[in-house]
Amino acid sequence: MARRIVIGGLESSVIIQPDMLSSLTLVIIPIMNLGGKISPSLLELKQLKYLDLSGNYFGGNQIPEFVGSLKSLKYLNLSDAGFGMMIPRQLGNLSRLSYLDLSRNDLGGTIPHQFSNLTKLIQLDLGGYNNGLEVDNLQWLSRLSSLNYLDMSLVNLAMATDWLQVINMLPSLLDFHLSHRELSNIPILHLVNFTSLSNLDLSNNNFNSLRRIPNWLLSLQGLVSLDLRYNSIQDPFLDSLWNMSSLRILRLSRNQFQGMISDAIGNLTSLTDLDMSGNQLEGWKRRTWENLCNLKQLDLSHNNFKGEILGLLINSSQCFMDSLVSLDLESNQLSGHLPNEVGNFKNLKFLSLRTNSLSGPIPKSLGHLSNLEELHVSQNSLKGVVSEIHFANLTSLKILDASSNSLDLKVNSNWDPPFRLQIIFLRSWKIGPKFPMWLQTQKGLEALDLSDTGISEVLPTWFWNLSSHISYLNISCNQIIGEIPGLVKMESFCPIIFLRSNRFSGPLPSFSSNVTALDLSNNYFSGSISHFLCRKVEGSVNKLEYLNLSGNTLSGGIPNCWMNWPLLVLINLGNNNLTGNIPRSIGSLTQLLSLYLRNNNLFGEIPSSLRNCTSLNVLDLGENELFGRIPQGMGLDLSDLWVLDLRSNRFNGSIPLELCQLVSLQILDLADNNLSGTIPHCFGDFSVMAEKHDTIDISYYYSSFYYSDFGDEVWCMLRGRKAKYSSTLRLVTSMDLSNNCLSGEIPKELTRLIGLMSLNLSRNHLTGKIPEEIGDMGKLGVLEILDFSVNNLSGVIPQGMASLTSLNFLKLVI
Ligand SMILES: *[C@@H]1O[C@H](CO)[C@@H](O)[C@H](O)[C@H]1NC(C)=O
Ligand SMILES: *[C@@H]1O[C@H](CO)[C@@H](O)[C@H](O)[C@H]1NC(C)=O
Ligand SMILES: *[C@@H]1O[C@H](CO)[C@@H](O)[C@H](O)[C@H]1NC(C)=O
Ligand SMILES: *[C@@H]1O[C@H](CO)[C@@H](O)[C@H](O)[C@H]1NC(C)=O
Ligand SMILES: *[C@@H]1O[C@H](CO)[C@@H](O)[C@H](O)[C@H]1NC(C)=O
Ligand SMILES: *[C@@H]1O[C@H](CO)[C@@H](O)[C@H](O)[C@H]1NC(C)=O
Ligand SMILES: *[C@@H]1O[C@H](CO)[C@@H](O)[C@H](O)[C@H]1NC(C)=O
Ligand SMILES: *[C@@H]1O[C@H](CO)[C@@H](O)[C@H](O)[C@H]1NC(C)=O
Repeated sequence: MARRIVIGGLESSVIIQPDMLSSLTLVIIPIMNLGGKISPSLLELKQLKYLDLSGNYFGGNQIPEFVGSLKSLKYLNLSDAGFGMMIPRQLGNLSRLSYLDLSRNDLGGTIPHQFSNLTKLIQLDLGGYNNGLEVDNLQWLSRLSSLNYLDMSLVNLAMATDWLQVINMLPSLLDFHLSHRELSNIPILHLVNFTSLSNLDLSNNNFNSLRRIPNWLLSLQGLVSLDLRYNSIQDPFLDSLWNMSSLRILRLSRNQFQGMISDAIGNLTSLTDLDMSGNQLEGWKRRTWENLCNLKQLDLSHNNFKGEILGLLINSSQCFMDSLVSLDLESNQLSGHLPNEVGNFKNLKFLSLRTNSLSGPIPKSLGHLSNLEELHVSQNSLKGVVSEIHFANLTSLKILDASSNSLDLKVNSNWDPPFRLQIIFLRSWKIGPKFPMWLQTQKGLEALDLSDTGISEVLPTWFWNLSSHISYLNISCNQIIGEIPGLVKMESFCPIIFLRSNRFSGPLPSFSSNVTALDLSNNYFSGSISHFLCRKVEGSVNKLEYLNLSGNTLSGGIPNCWMNWPLLVLINLGNNNLTGNIPRSIGSLTQLLSLYLRNNNLFGEIPSSLRNCTSLNVLDLGENELFGRIPQGMGLDLSDLWVLDLRSNRFNGSIPLELCQLVSLQILDLADNNLSGTIPHCFGDFSVMAEKHDTIDISYYYSSFYYSDFGDEVWCMLRGRKAKYSSTLRLVTSMDLSNNCLSGEIPKELTRLIGLMSLNLSRNHLTGKIPEEIGDMGKLGVLEILDFSVNNLSGVIPQGMASLTSLNFLKLVI
């Protein structure tokens, strides 16, 4: 008879038919949305030893008390299962339990059950009525005398100050996790009972005021692994750590350690894994590491290590060098040359020196590291020629991440490299003019960045075959010529393709529907975009989120096919020769954040369906032949707009008052149209223009692109646009209504917009005086451009003008 079963695919709240399963010893219910309650029929499973409900969602319900009656249970995993409220004491009856995982629930709340339906309650005051309230108390735990493993991470034990005393009643505890508890103190304990504890995880608490490690912890001489990450711990705490000589794994990342690493760390001779990343450490002394002859993983990334400290590491001791498998020094301030002895770390599999200031050539000895799988040296100032010798014995290399150095790759055209790489990042190397033929041997490529490498040839025919499995491809900023075959098939999951700023020509190629980001901008693609946009995909949808075709010579109309691209977040078709109307189907793009159609020959009215694009932040339709009124709906429905640019079109009629509801507007450019009527007084209500902005985090703007893994690579591709935005989005707040037929007075409410950097009302028919309050606009010292020229203004220039000290352009009346 089956005694172990894994149940999957259940959707109802009745989980188990007990008659069938009464002899079961193991139940795993893998992740699904169980939602409801656990049926007490589970009780029939008297012999159940193993119950895993982790990863489900029980809607904030309490863990049923009857679970405490499953007497045979040895393993109970309720992690991340959406349980709430009090932990039932009955769990204390599970005397055979050796694994208990309660982590990542919303357990431990002290609000009694009868209040749990009051979902709108904000504050509950039961002062003087506490008798009915159960106060958290973990005494039940102390009865679990067989417990080996206990994970109470993220359990809210606010009232349970007795946790350590309770743990002390569990002599067989080996593994204890109490992460994410917001503890600020570790209680004192005089006599330690759980001396066999070998793994202790107190990460993600808040021990910043703790001066030293409590004695009871130091006396755990059998402790093998200690995790104190993310605790804001400061230096004095460290000093008492160095005599825990049995430690093999010590994780201290993301605390506040400063200055030199103490030599005493050399006392931890059993260490195999040391993580001190994300502190403010600055260095170490010569002999610091020499006794750490078992250390395999050393992570010192994201600190302030300076100078030629890598050399000190290399000169430590032979046994240290021989032992090390992984060395991470990313994001420090290392400088000087890469020492030749780096080749002596003969067992190294992972080496990261990314984002430092290393200079000089790559030493040939690097080519000896036959075990090396990952080499990260991007973003340094390395210089010189790299040839076959540097890679001679790198037979295990999988990741070569060396972008943004001044390196020059000189290899034979028939070079057959000893490695088969998955990731190649060589941005800004000197590789061209020829396309590197050796790439043809790299059949397992997943990511390739050869942007800005001076390649000026046609792509070889094998290239698109090779790249069909790639998920990140960037060959931007070269001079690559030729056409791209009609339909490029990419087989990987959600590939990203950047071919911008080359000299590709011919008709626009199509890519398979799994592509998520496509940048073909600044090339010489020509002809219609119809086949591209209207291509239907059988049985699926186009996954594209980011589409940049700007800066080509595309012509013809924009076909009414946007409904084929429901996930689009950014569209840039600017700087082409497109003509015709903006098609109605644009309204099907409800995720769209940015739409740029600037500098084409589009005509007709703005389609009313644009109201559907309620997520829009940037709408740039400037420099076209669009006409008609500015739709009122734009103000009503596009309330997240930051940038509204309709400049240089043929819009007429008055400015709709509804635009005043665009409270996030930062740039409003309606210049160079035929708008008439008065400037709305409520333009003074644009609150973002009335505040000071040092930096608006532009990364938010790209928040829908989670390409952060490629961080600066994405910045490279955004480089052209970044430059544009750094002067328009990030810093600039501006209002330009110039060159229209606007009449009436300048509303004095405009002077409230003290965060504006530029205000241009010139070339209209404005009359009356310049508002007295104009001087207010100098309050934040950001106003640089003020242009009221070519109007019919009269009267004296207001006194307040004198306080506009930040102005560097002022034009009032001619
Ligand atoms: C409990 O389940 C979670 C998620 O499935 C898993 O990560 C965790 O390791 C399990 N706990 C134990 C003690 O096995
Ligand atoms: C289980 O625990 C509860 C509360 O701790 C206790 O009242 C009850 O008698 C126990 N049940 C059994 C069957 O031991
Ligand atoms: C140590 O554990 C035993 C067994 O659980 C218990 O009886 C005793 O009280 C504990 N000692 C302390 C100091 O907590
Ligand atoms: C390191 O160990 C030595 C002896 O093994 C001891 O004398 C010294 O005090 C220890 N240093 C620290 C900081 O614990
Ligand atoms: C480590 O330090 C603690 C506290 O100072 C002390 O009780 C313990 O005996 C020391 N252990 C060793 C092995 O030196
Ligand atoms: C490469 O490895 C082979 C065999 O392990 C060795 O003989 C040779 O000297 C190595 N060459 C380099 C450049 O490290
Ligand atoms: C590319 O792959 C296709 C299909 O696998 C094959 O027919 C073609 O010959 C390959 N082209 C080159 C240049 O390798
Ligand atoms: C705009 O939204 C409405 C309501 O959600 C929908 O019926 C309509 O089809 C959408 N318009 C377009 C052009 O997709």
